[in-house]
Amino acid sequence: MKKILIVEDSKVVNNIVANELKLLGYSCTQVYNFISAVEILNKNKYDLIILDLHLPDGEGYELIHNIQSLSDTKVVILTGNTEKQLREELFHHGILDYIIKDKNLSYAIQELHKILAHIEDVKTHNILVIDDSTFICKQIESILLPRNYKVTIAKTGKDGLEKLVNGRFDLVTLDMELPDIHGSDVLEEIKSHKEFIDLPVIVISGTNDSDLIRKIYKKGGSDFIRKPFIVEEFALKVDLWTDYRKKHYEEIEQKDLLLSQQSKMATMGEMLENIIHQSKQPLSLITSLASGTLMKQEFNQLTTEYLEKNLEQIIQSALHLSETMTMFRNFYKKNSFKTTFDLSELFMKAFQLTESKFHNRGIATITNFEDIKVYGFDIELLQVFINILNNARDEFGRKQIEKKYIFITTYLQDNFVYISIKDNAGGIPEDIIEKVFDSHFTTKSEDEGTGIGLYMSKEIIEKHHEGEIFCVNENYSYEDVIYRGANFIIKIPLN
Ligand SMILES: Nc1ncnc2c1ncn2[C@@H]1O[C@H](COP(=O)(O)OP(=O)(O)OP(=O)(O)O)[C@@H](O)[C@H]1O
Ligand SMILES: [Mg+2]
Repeated sequence: MKKILIVEDSKVVNNIVANELKLLGYSCTQVYNFISAVEILNKNKYDLIILDLHLPDGEGYELIHNIQSLSDTKVVILTGNTEKQLREELFHHGILDYIIKDKNLSYAIQELHKILAHIEDVKTHNILVIDDSTFICKQIESILLPRNYKVTIAKTGKDGLEKLVNGRFDLVTLDMELPDIHGSDVLEEIKSHKEFIDLPVIVISGTNDSDLIRKIYKKGGSDFIRKPFIVEEFALKVDLWTDYRKKHYEEIEQKDLLLSQQSKMATMGEMLENIIHQSKQPLSLITSLASGTLMKQEFNQLTTEYLEKNLEQIIQSALHLSETMTMFRNFYKKNSFKTTFDLSELFMKAFQLTESKFHNRGIATITNFEDIKVYGFDIELLQVFINILNNARDEFGRKQIEKKYIFITTYLQDNFVYISIKDNAGGIPEDIIEKVFDSHFTTKSEDEGTGIGLYMSKEIIEKHHEGEIFCVNENYSYEDVIYRGANFIIKIPLN
């Protein structure tokens, strides 16, 4: 629980704020004058201090000097004082916010809620400051550190670009007047990288040149702050842009989660059908073995040998069933950490889970496996294999092909694992081959396909395994016959 100290001489205001915070689950200590605030600050540490500026026995802002580290103990000013210069100076000293008291405190309370949410936000945001002035960098640090930001400084454009590529940043502040490259060129370079298109860049400059400012926005700058800047404006803009980016990413994550669930459900539906199909045989075997045994027993013909043989077969069938069930259960459990597993064994599972649909359609799988261990999310890769196998099966279903084959080859090369899954169903039409990995791209009717199979597969290979997946149409010969089909190639770095 966070500890909050309220320093406010009006009993009424002090109590309203304290009650509001207690309702939110904070532990509050209330003091009413300067002296007791100093005393209590020497003895205890607080996460947040809500501070009135005018106290009967002293000036509230002098208390800031009694606080050791503004990164650990944050200060919010609550005051009736609207003096601009003091306000700016306090922001300069690292206060989190400056709230003007209104009549019924409703605005102040609302602001407090916002600030608390900001402090509670466990994720610290990383800010890259590209600026050659030591003074400005120090100033920015003193503003951002108390607000839970992590600051990295680059003194040249080159250094900044390097740090950006090698790190993970949520926002960049960029000075225009840099010693090596002009800021607007740095901006252009940043925005030429696809992954930085959504990265907020706040440009800081002393310029009055309206052409330059227009250029900055055109080149993808998010905001412009003129030097010498107002500290409060700077702090608020950083808060605003990081918040915006966070929301944006949460939205994308949410969408991806939904898609991945949909795709999993589709695969699961097929697997379930397959399991039911596959369970029929062992189940009927178990029943007939058991009733056969009963029968012999009734006619007193049951020998120990016969009983043992039958029970052994029953056990085998039951074990086989339970294995398939476990596999299915694992599939829909979340795969939260990577493991090392045998690639050909994973393919065996994929075959087992799709078997019935392949067998009765006369599709033969021809494998050529090297002995390869992969470090990754096995259940996710299983899903990728099943997606690709199912696609080939669907394609065979749409065409008249006499001999249907799926060739699966795995091999190691230059520290990469290669997996090729190739069919002879005729290939993907050239005018859509570029689009097959797009989400919701499908050539199937609504109940046959949703078009997320390959999209999800690409996400799994690229985002979770740092690999690549692509497809090509190939002409090749097998047993002296020329075939044509799609070849899906997956490339994953070893470890
Ligand atoms: N082996 C293949 N041969 C020919 N076309 C293919 C092959 N695999 C995929 N495609 C084409 O790529 C499209 C996209 O495949 P994807 O797996 O993403 O979606 P889908 O199979 O249509 O639907 P879903 O997998 O979501 O049920 C397919 O609709 C099909 O047109
Ligand atoms: Mg598919």
